[in-house]
Amino acid sequence: MKSYSIKELLKKQPVGDSVEVNGWVKTFRSNRFIALNDGSTIHNLQCVVDFENADEALLKQVTTGAALKISGTLVESQGKGQTVEIQATAIFVHGTADPETYPIQPKKHSLEFLREKAHLRVRTNTFSAVMRVRSALSFAIHSYFQQNGFYYMHAPIITGSDAEGAGEMFRVSTLDAKKPPVDENGEVDFGEDFFGKETNLTVSGQLEAETYAMALGKVYTFGPTFRAENSNTSRHLAEFWMIEPEVAFNDLDANMDLAEDFIKWIIQYVLDHCKDDLEFLEGRLSDEEKTKPQNERSEMTLLEKLKFVVENNFKRVSYTEAIDILRNSNPNKKKKFQYLIDEWGADLQSEHERYLVEKHFKCPVILFDYPANIKAFYMRLNEDGKTVRAMDVLFPGIGEIVGGSQREERLDVLQQKIKALGIDDKELWWYLDLRRFGTAVHSGFGLGFERMVQFVTGMGNIRDVIPYPRTPQNAEF
Ligand code: 4AD
Ligand code: MG
Repeated sequence: MKSYSIKELLKKQPVGDSVEVNGWVKTFRSNRFIALNDGSTIHNLQCVVDFENADEALLKQVTTGAALKISGTLVESQGKGQTVEIQATAIFVHGTADPETYPIQPKKHSLEFLREKAHLRVRTNTFSAVMRVRSALSFAIHSYFQQNGFYYMHAPIITGSDAEGAGEMFRVSTLDAKKPPVDENGEVDFGEDFFGKETNLTVSGQLEAETYAMALGKVYTFGPTFRAENSNTSRHLAEFWMIEPEVAFNDLDANMDLAEDFIKWIIQYVLDHCKDDLEFLEGRLSDEEKTKPQNERSEMTLLEKLKFVVENNFKRVSYTEAIDILRNSNPNKKKKFQYLIDEWGADLQSEHERYLVEKHFKCPVILFDYPANIKAFYMRLNEDGKTVRAMDVLFPGIGEIVGGSQREERLDVLQQKIKALGIDDKELWWYLDLRRFGTAVHSGFGLGFERMVQFVTGMGNIRDVIPYPRTPQNAEF
């Protein structure tokens, strides 16, 4: 007897054949109808039990969460919304799930409750759909770059440098560079430390990716990155995955073109390949929206939002223009709306970003040419001496989804910048070498993978789009 996945059975429909299928029980109704799911699709397979001739003790073991192998004949279904079902002839119980203690019952559990059960939540419809979409998005990302001549580069996880210069690193070494260990003679002694220097978990693979772009031309990283920022928000994780393309000879305009094309392509990919899961998630989101007051509900459904992003141009706006818009957005200086920014040079808060994207432009926005003093040291200084060739892509409901820039390729300007910011240039000798040997214009960006998964699945909290979220006070699993 041939074994099939439920996805295959629903697609191929070899009606009349004897088939075998494995999965977990979603529900068991009237001692007769088993809804079985094996994770291959959002859809369950209905298995009809000949209960009059079935072993009663065995049927008692058919409870939500139990793992079964069901053999039988595939027949056309009489039920609504399903094409085929199995007339079961034999049931084998791989493993039972005691209904008294199995936490995932056939009812609506809150996302908060399910976060505490991260090892089992993927058995729910919502999480299985999210994780299948997450998997498809990862594949789409690799496909896009591989089709476009990029090489996949593995940046190190343990590093000696702080790519963002923001000091938000998890330390790996036992050594604190600020308080270096000294031996009995008062000499600095690194001997005790594994690496002999301060090392951290990477906050970004960018600096290493730059070195590879300056030899292979077009590269991308896609790996875990770590930030010890104590941000308890629905957009921040301490461990998240980042995609960082880096391209030699690309200026900022080419970088924006790449970001827009790449984002549209991967979203189109999931629209084409994850229809069933997206439709399920759309329904979930619209149920959630109904619990909100009318004026806070989204005007578009999930699929409409995704199509909108794919079909419309992102709006490109300089920081200076954005500040003007924000200034004018509050002409009466009503306290209630804190959109107003008086100072040119201030960093945009998420409420400002949301105003620009959701209220003013009503589409994804690429903000560029930010003030130098609010951005990282490696960004290329503009001729005005005040702004840098930075870009952030802002998305509705998410805020910043991409951060990138054209890199400073001039050795002297970069050295001055590093000095002015008080960064230890000894740590960056290899990075500076790139500007000594065959330097050239180059650009890149970082896409926060989980923020993209959030956008595509409509999940409100970043903790619900990664299998095991790492946030402050949370590393249970
Ligand atoms: O803007 P960021 O900090 O930029 C960089 O790290 C650059 N080195 C990227 C580059 O140019 N190669 O981070 C990039 C993106 C953000 O736009 C955001 O989407 C995501 O990474 N991100 C986070 N996602 C989840 N949790 C966090 N704590 C995040 N911090 C940044
Ligand atoms: Mg950023």
